[in-house]
Parts: sequence; structure tokens; C-alpha cells
Amino acid sequence: MPHCLQRCRKCSLVLSNEQRFKNFFSRFDVRIHVASLKQFEERIMTTYKELGLVNSKELFQKAVKGGYAIPAFNFNNLEQLQAIIGACVETKSPVILQVSSGARKYANSTLLKHLAKGAVDYAKELGCAIPIVLHLDHGDTFELCKSCIESGFSSVMIDGSHHPYDKNVELTKQVVEYAHKYDVTVEGELGVLAGIEDEVSSAVTHYTKPEEVEDFVKKTGVDSLAISIGTSHGANKFKPEQCTRSADGVLLPPPLRFDILEEVEKRIPGFPIVLHGASSVPAELVKIINANGGKLKDAVGIPEDQLRKAAKSAVCKVNIDSDGRLAMTAAIRKTLVDNPAEFDPRKYLGPARDQLKALYMHKVVNVLGSNNRA
Ligand code: G3H
Ligand code: 13P
Ligand code: ZN
Repeated sequence: MPHCLQRCRKCSLVLSNEQRFKNFFSRFDVRIHVASLKQFEERIMTTYKELGLVNSKELFQKAVKGGYAIPAFNFNNLEQLQAIIGACVETKSPVILQVSSGARKYANSTLLKHLAKGAVDYAKELGCAIPIVLHLDHGDTFELCKSCIESGFSSVMIDGSHHPYDKNVELTKQVVEYAHKYDVTVEGELGVLAGIEDEVSSAVTHYTKPEEVEDFVKKTGVDSLAISIGTSHGANKFKPEQCTRSADGVLLPPPLRFDILEEVEKRIPGFPIVLHGASSVPAELVKIINANGGKLKDAVGIPEDQLRKAAKSAVCKVNIDSDGRLAMTAAIRKTLVDNPAEFDPRKYLGPARDQLKALYMHKVVNVLGSNNRA
């Protein structure tokens, strides 16, 4: 036997690489008993409860009953976080702070943990301790989900939607089994959205098959399910040839497939449903960007009245990222074009933050209906 194999002092079982690694870095300098790995993990992990965060379980139950949806806003920097918390405190809305794996790499996971704790304290300081969830968006491996759970996330998405059905079930179930040990909620996905997601992209939409949802939910134990009914990621959700044009030349996207949503609701009544790719790509923001040196062509999103209708159903989480990017970019471009001598980042990031906060307040109050639900 190679001498580097390390055995548990109590039961003599050979330790796995992970157990050896944790043993090596243990602050307590003890050999880990195989059976007590969970307690050991708890000692070295940051639980979301320590950060003052909540998981999404109760929020979703209330949202489904109340006919509204919780905003899931993506973030990766301070100004976005300030805008999200400012908007949700002012409207008294619960909120899901959503981080993609690309955003986590960009912002650094240690900083994110402290930013999330800071968000909880900041909300209190602003006068309303709104419920805050820290959620991994589009997790693509078990290891990524586990790492997020260990660093304070209260909710994770495992996106196995690009895998064959059985593999999606297997991967999702593995994440659920781990996450539920720590009271962390899990979002799964069935059906594929067109557009670019972090690490994965698809040119075409594959709508969710309603006949699969019951089996998927039962076999995996997920807490919520993202479905594909015609939304899409990014600012160019549809090609012009998929759209019609209004009299004044504005692109009108194909309507969402509410028939699929209704069929899904019939099969898993009251189960929390998630909509990704739900930005509306406001024409006025695209106009400001293009009038100030930008080049966004044929940008088109999901009309807000359709999202409002979805939020009144079992859809209880709505993901919005691109609209926030557009709002910030519009404000930054305009400020710099209007003030070419400006070089203090606060002078252009400040207006971007204000624009973003206004956009989020609008989403909460006029689209999702989650105001006064904190
Ligand atoms: O669904 C994708 C989100 O908009 C995240 O985008 O991966 O560029 O951070 P990102
Ligand atoms: P948008 O690109 O439409 O904002 O969608 C964001 C999203 O679904 C994040 O998971
Ligand atoms: Zn998404």
C-alpha cells in the first residue's frame, strides 16, 4: 500500500482525498472519523443562517398563494447590490440575490459572502429587514453547488437541462440530497431556453414537456422548477424573423406559451415555478445606449404584461439580469458623453446605480407584485 494513504484513527478506513484535504487544513488538528464528516464540514463551512440569509421555501409558498413572484436579480458588484437592496427595502419586497458562476469568479467568493452579510445589515440600516436569499444561478456541477453551499449560499440552481432526462434527474437528485442536509433549497430545470447562459448556450428553444414534470419533481426532490415556455436569455431574445412588427416598426416577440404553463400547473398543483430569461429589454434604454455610441441591434425582450400574468400564477421566481445591464450601460454611456472630462468612477457609477434602483422598483411594483410582501 502506498504510504501516502491516510486512515481514520477510529475505524481505520482509508480517507478520501477530500477528507485528507480537510484533515490537513483542520484548525483542530484531529483525524476525521469518516462517519463524522458532516459535523466536520459544518465546522469549516459558513452557513447562510450565520449570514442572516433565508432559503426560498417559505417565500415561494407565500408567493404562490399570494399571486406574485419574488424578484431574482443578478449581481456581481457593489453598485448593483446597493441598487437591489435600496429598491427592495423601499418597496418592502423579499429578494433573491442571484450569482452566476461567471459572476462568482468575477467578484470572488470570499467577497461575495461578506457582501451578502453586508446586504442583510444594510437592509436593516435602511429600515426594513427584508428576507434575502443568496442563490447560485445556473450551477452546472455538483461540486460548484457544494462549494456555494459551503460559502453561505441559501439556495442553488442545478441546471441539468442540457443533459438527457435521466442524467438530469441523477445530477439534480445528488445536489438535492446534499443541499437538504443544510436546509438549502434547490431549483432544477426542465426544457432548454434559447440564448446564452453562463457556460452553456443554445440556439433553439426546447419547451418543457409537461408530461415529465411530475416524475422529475418526485424523483429529484427539488424545491422549485425552472421551465421553458418561450422566454430566452440576453438582450436579443428573438430573431427579427421570429417577430412581427407594430405599426411604428417596433419588434413584437412571439407570445409566451401559457398553455404549457397551465398544463404544468395541472400536473404539479401549487409547486413553485421559475421563469428565466425574463428581461423586457426596454426600448427607451436601448435608444439611450445607441444614441450615445452603443451598437445594439434588434434587441427585443418579453413584454411586461405577459410577465405580470405569469407572476399571478404558480410562477414565483422571475430572473432578471439583462435589463439591469442595459440600465447601467445607458446611464454610464450618457453621463460620459454628456461630461467627456469626467473621470471619477463615482460620477458615472452613481447615476447608473440610481437608474438601476428605479428599474428594480418598477419591476417589483408593476411587474412582479412583490411589494409590501416582506
Ligand atoms: O442566465 C444568465 C445570467 O444572465 C448570467 O449571466 O453568466 O454572464 O453572469 P452571466
Ligand atoms: P435575462 O437575460 O432575460 O435577464 O435572464 C436572466 C436569467 O435568466 C438569469 O438566470
Ligand atoms: Zn437563466
